Amino acid sequence: MAQTGSAPVLGVIGGSGVYDIDGLENQRWVTVETPFGDPSDELLTGELDGQKLVFLPRHGRGHRIPPSELNFRANIYALKALGVTEILSVSAVGSLKEHLPPGTFVVIDQFIDRTFARSKSFFGTGLVAHVALGHPVCGRLGDLIEEALVELKVPHQRRGTYMVMEGPQFSTKAESELYRGWGCDVIGMTNMPEAKLAREAEMCYATVAMVTDFDCWHPDHDHVTVDAVIRVVVANAGKARSLVKTLAPKLQVRDGLCAQGCHTALDHAIMTAPDK
Ligand code: ADE
Repeated sequence: MAQTGSAPVLGVIGGSGVYDIDGLENQRWVTVETPFGDPSDELLTGELDGQKLVFLPRHGRGHRIPPSELNFRANIYALKALGVTEILSVSAVGSLKEHLPPGTFVVIDQFIDRTFARSKSFFGTGLVAHVALGHPVCGRLGDLIEEALVELKVPHQRRGTYMVMEGPQFSTKAESELYRGWGCDVIGMTNMPEAKLAREAEMCYATVAMVTDFDCWHPDHDHVTVDAVIRVVVANAGKARSLVKTLAPKLQVRDGLCAQGCHTALDHAIMTAPDK
C-alpha cells in the first residue's frame, strides 16, 4: 500500500504525560474500529503549529493494559487509518550501561526482540509477506529527533540497542547480565512488535527510550521498582512533551516519500502470487 508522498502526519505513542501539550488545537478524541479488535484507547487528534498530530496512550488512559496484552496490531492499524505517516514512540526503559543514568533519552536504532506471546504480523495464511528489518527504525526520523534533543539540551545518546522482554516481571540479575553481555543498551517491554508492525504498515517509526532505572545489575543502585519508574517518568514528562513540540515542525521538511524506503516497505516483501 505505497503512499503518494502526502503531507506528514505525526503519530505519538506514549504515556499520559506526553499528550497534554500546550497549543494543541482542534483536539478531539476519536474511536477507531479495526479488523484486529480495539486499540488501547481512543486516539487524540489535533494540530500543533499547523502539523497534524495523533496521540495514542499505549497502555490506555490510566495505564490499564499490561505490555503482553497490548493489541499492537490494532494500535498500528488505527494510527494508519487516521493518516499517520511517521510514528514517534516514547517508552520508559531500564539502563544496561553505566553511562546511561536515569533521565537519559536514547534514540534507538536496533532491537533484540525476546517477546513471545504477542501477535507480530498483519500477514499470514493467504497473504505471506517478509519485510526487511535490518534497519528497524527510520534513520531520517531518528536524525530529526536527535536534532530536537540537541536544541532542547536533553541528555541523550543517538544510537542504542533496545532489548524487548515479555514481562510483566522485571528481569533476574542473570538475565540482566546476559543482555549486558550481548551489548544491549536498554531494556523494556513495549516496543516489539510495535516497530515490526509499523514497518509492515509502511510507516516511518522511531523510538525514544527514556531511562528510568538501572534494572537490577548495578551494584550501587537499587533494583528497579514501579515506584522508581513512575517517579522518573513524571519528572521527565515535560521533556517528552517538548520533544514532540520541537519535532513536529521539522517533519514538514520531507518532500515526497521517506528516502529510506519506510513508505514502500512492502514493494519487495510479498511472497504470495497475485492471482492466488
Ligand atoms: N521499564 C522501565 N524499566 C524497566 C526495566 N528495568 N525492565 C523492563 N522494563 C522496564
